[in-house]
Amino acid sequence: MFNKLCIIGVGLIGGSIARAARENKLCTQVSAFGREQDLANLQQALALQVIDSYSLEMEEAVTDADCVIIATPVGAMPDILQQLAPYWSEHVLYMDAGSTKGSVVEALGIIFTTLPDNFVPAHPIAGEEKSGVDAALVDLFQQKRVILTPCAQTDKKFLQLAKQFWQGLGSSVSEMQVAQHDTVLAATSHLPHIMAFALVDLLGRKDEQEEIFKYAAGGFKDLTRIASSDPTMWQDICMANKQHIIPLIEQLCSELETVKHMLQDNQAQALHDTFTYARNARQRFLDQHNNMNQSITFTIQPGGHLQGQVRVPGDKSISHRSIMLGSLAEGVTHVSGFLEGDDALATLRAFQSMGVKIEGPENGKVTINGVGLDGLLAPKEPIYLGNSGTSMRLICGLLAGQKFDATLTGDKSLSGRPMRRVTDPLAKMGAVIESTENGTAPLTIRGQSNLQGIHYDMPIASAQVKSCLLLAGLYARGETSVTEPTPTRDHTERMLSGFSHPVKQDGNKVTISRQGKLVATDIDVPSDISSAAFFLVGASIAENSDLTLQHVGINPTRTGVINILQLMGANIELFNQRIVGGEPVADIRVRSAALKGIAIPEEFVALAIDEFPVLFVAAACADGTTTLTGAKELRVKESDRIQVMADGLQILGVDAQPTDDGMVINGGSIGGGTVVSHGDHRIAMAFSMAGLRTTAPIVIQDCENVNTSFPGFVSLTSGLGLNISSEEG
Ligand code: S3P
Repeated sequence: MFNKLCIIGVGLIGGSIARAARENKLCTQVSAFGREQDLANLQQALALQVIDSYSLEMEEAVTDADCVIIATPVGAMPDILQQLAPYWSEHVLYMDAGSTKGSVVEALGIIFTTLPDNFVPAHPIAGEEKSGVDAALVDLFQQKRVILTPCAQTDKKFLQLAKQFWQGLGSSVSEMQVAQHDTVLAATSHLPHIMAFALVDLLGRKDEQEEIFKYAAGGFKDLTRIASSDPTMWQDICMANKQHIIPLIEQLCSELETVKHMLQDNQAQALHDTFTYARNARQRFLDQHNNMNQSITFTIQPGGHLQGQVRVPGDKSISHRSIMLGSLAEGVTHVSGFLEGDDALATLRAFQSMGVKIEGPENGKVTINGVGLDGLLAPKEPIYLGNSGTSMRLICGLLAGQKFDATLTGDKSLSGRPMRRVTDPLAKMGAVIESTENGTAPLTIRGQSNLQGIHYDMPIASAQVKSCLLLAGLYARGETSVTEPTPTRDHTERMLSGFSHPVKQDGNKVTISRQGKLVATDIDVPSDISSAAFFLVGASIAENSDLTLQHVGINPTRTGVINILQLMGANIELFNQRIVGGEPVADIRVRSAALKGIAIPEEFVALAIDEFPVLFVAAACADGTTTLTGAKELRVKESDRIQVMADGLQILGVDAQPTDDGMVINGGSIGGGTVVSHGDHRIAMAFSMAGLRTTAPIVIQDCENVNTSFPGFVSLTSGLGLNISSEEG
């Protein structure tokens, strides 16, 4: 991009820019400018080959440079700009890397009569507590955000060049107005730094008298890590942005005052609510942050098998429902075997944000202090449900009967999924729900406890729609009934009975009428057959496999995968069959078998709806043709599972033809390659199992969402003999 890059101020940031620009071949040489007192640092930069040359004369340093970046503390920038002005060239891209932007633009305004069009203010949100060129890192900006704050005068050509430069260093670039940048950063960066410095300052003085640091543990270290940052830099940032920081300090003081009063007045509940709100807000931030930044890739080397005994994590559908009904019940519900995956945790947090006291999960144990059907409180903010369709559709139903308004949001995948299937019948019951023009989330459910029961003939077989309406039925006048075209999972019905609320089942029709009360109970969540399914297929297709899956839920509305695999010739045995908390459970032994292609009976589709990604892998390894029809629903799951699986299988050399409502797969052999899971957990895990049969490695991109349903998937499967590794980034 550039021949000569000139860095003014070769510290941690400037040095890292130089290193990264060279590494990524964005420039051929780097010069540096520094002051007399920076000489030792400049010499060190030269010795470390971070730069090719330096000068204490501005003119010499910037001559022939086609890009100049000022990476000094922001307090030094007015002076630097003053020195730079006589040598300004209209062909050169100028940037800074400071943490405040208003002060830089102001300094430019004083020095130049009109703001130069080739200066692009930039703020890389990256750093370390260490400072100086010794700490410079070649990958400091990889996967970090860089905010550019162009002004009205900024030339688009230079802005584009700046963007390309930072992207070339591995950063994700966004644009903001100068004032917005300084307001946002005051809250998320400057205030936390001031707090860390101030806290350590306070405790440091105490320590001199009482040696308290001796007893400081992880919490103190985590909270104060940033107090090891460079004092000069932070003095400059705080002074430069004080107009935005001071109001925040005032708000923080008043928040601390409020907490002090809660303690003085023994307001334990208020304190608990404050902490719960904060914890949930942080979790939401982490979820969104992870979704944005983290990308996980799985690699599976051939030659694996599956052997041993394993208990896969708890059932996702039952885990969701345990939180929902436990929250609405009267009394305390103890849950064991709860799935600690992101989806079920999204439901848990949703109810916490509506005032329910929920303890755990810890080792799968959750305690829910039910608030009763009318005890939920209005959430203070929109409820973020991540990737979880079940959370959104079921919670939508029970919110329709509340007295308060609430908004449900989700990640990109969830925000694209159809919601009219629930909002339309709920509207018939009298609910008022706002969605996007396409009928997708965000959904705002207006509080109005005036629902009327209806009868609904479901056009599609969906347990989520059925459950949504039954939950709304808990609040509706009269009877609410649903008829399903083919049977779907009946966990809601079973669990409502477990919570002492009658539900009438009559053939394919289920009816509920408001009783006004759920009674708390204990729930033992069985292992999820949808998670076990990966192993049922994996152990079938891999040679030398013999695996026992313990405590798996075998509710007949979920066992389609076993039926289909048995038709294909799988060697699957069920034993120790028992009933646990109203749900049938068994241990399942599965051994290697030669599978053959079949026409999958449509009656099994709804009973195996989540298992098709891995069943497609079974079909790819089977002898002959497997045909799936009547499964159009797969197109609107976490991804379009027909298209995404067909694309991936074709990359692996399989003859897989997608159809409107299914797929035709001519099985036999399956090769290696790189496939994309499109953020769909079940696609990622299905292709992982394919790695048991390939001759070359499989690389699967976008696997971060495996945590939604199967935390610990990689370590558990590798313990059983799958050659799998996981890498971030
Ligand atoms: C679920 C129902 C199914 C299933 C989903 C969980 C549930 O969705 O795919 O993973 O817990 O009720 P549909 O109702 O959309 O078929």
